[in-house]
Amino acid sequence: MTNTVKPRNEPYIVELRPSEYWWCSCGLSQRQPFCDGTHEAEHTGMKPLKVEVSKRQEVSFCGCRKSKGAPYCDGTHKTL
Ligand code: FES
Repeated sequence: MTNTVKPRNEPYIVELRPSEYWWCSCGLSQRQPFCDGTHEAEHTGMKPLKVEVSKRQEVSFCGCRKSKGAPYCDGTHKTL
């Protein structure tokens, strides 16, 4: 499987602390919008995208998996 799954048709707005995070690119994680390793269990051939945050901030992660600016929402979900 190489196609993504759309968990939902809107972004995930999350408050992040300085750290690194892994955004789920396959859409199968049960911990959306973060990777839980399901991409490996399901042999999707996909990898999560690493996000490094240096200061506390609010982030809008793509939930539809169609953003051209992934892992961030670029508004594409409004056209689906
Ligand atoms: S949720 Fe995917 S572009 Fe906004």
